[in-house]
Amino acid sequence: MAKLSLSMSLFLLAISQSFIQGVISSATFTFINKCDQTIWPGILSNAGISPLQPTGFALQKGETKVLHAPSSWGGRFWGRTHCSEDSDGKFTCGTGDCGSGTMECAGAGATPPATLAEFTLDGDGGMDFFDVSLVDGYNLPMLVAPTGGSGHNCTYTGCMVDLNGACPSALKVMNSDGEGVACKSACEAFGQQEYCCSGAFGTPDTCKPSSYSQLFKTACPRAYSYAYDDKTSTFTCTGADYQVTFCPPSSTSKKSTEEQATPATPQFDTGMVYEGAEDIENTGASLRYTYINAVIMVVVMVVVSL
Ligand SMILES: *[C@@H]1O[C@H](CO)[C@@H](O)[C@H](O)[C@H]1NC(C)=O
Repeated sequence: MAKLSLSMSLFLLAISQSFIQGVISSATFTFINKCDQTIWPGILSNAGISPLQPTGFALQKGETKVLHAPSSWGGRFWGRTHCSEDSDGKFTCGTGDCGSGTMECAGAGATPPATLAEFTLDGDGGMDFFDVSLVDGYNLPMLVAPTGGSGHNCTYTGCMVDLNGACPSALKVMNSDGEGVACKSACEAFGQQEYCCSGAFGTPDTCKPSSYSQLFKTACPRAYSYAYDDKTSTFTCTGADYQVTFCPPSSTSKKSTEEQATPATPQFDTGMVYEGAEDIENTGASLRYTYINAVIMVVVMVVVSL
């Protein structure tokens, strides 16, 4: 009898540990909507890996949602805006639409222009690689802030400013009220190889920043502004969780009005943004600590029961 309860306990310990380790080795993503409107995040997982579910959901103003990524997950997040369902129940969005006709994108990606947050978890050297990209254009300010990880460039990235107002008219996407709702990439707007880094311009040596990509880069120095912008735009962490914030605090409407007047202002790279990012980084310790505590509790309970 004693032998049975001992082996039972060891068995329980083993399964609870492997369960909890499974949770620890994969990151959590916390989506936060600080916009003054509802956002419908879309999720596209890379091909050939177990997908992150759900593939799309509504996030009300002020709402937060936590998702656990499968281990070694890779894919992208974006925010859809101005979404609605028509009388036939078909769901479509003004920006970032994935064409699925439903709230879930179910394997479809964002229609450009859309700001993208891209992740490869547990890649080279066990590091997570992540970036915020404007290569497919811009529709919303986004901030990606790691929590609890380590690494020499394990820090926040994103495009914290409202570029919809500052967008050059050749790239601007407007709603029916003439309001800027997104900003195209030069590649999408003009379709030329030199902007798309395709054809004869398909290498880092031949595809250089354009005046358009430089506009994005000046506004959002940490974000990808064109295809070969890797050096200044890819960040890495080991063992981090991530907060993905739509419309982080620095992108207030007052600020976007200022930026409209002076599109190239480097202001957003100073105090305000940093404070905003810090606020977010400091909101609560990593979820992992909760799991580590849970492991310790299980171990203690099993030992006591022996
Ligand atoms: C971060 O580190 C990676 C890996 O060492 C490097 O490729 C990338 O350029 C670095 N990014 C920045 C923004 O410094």
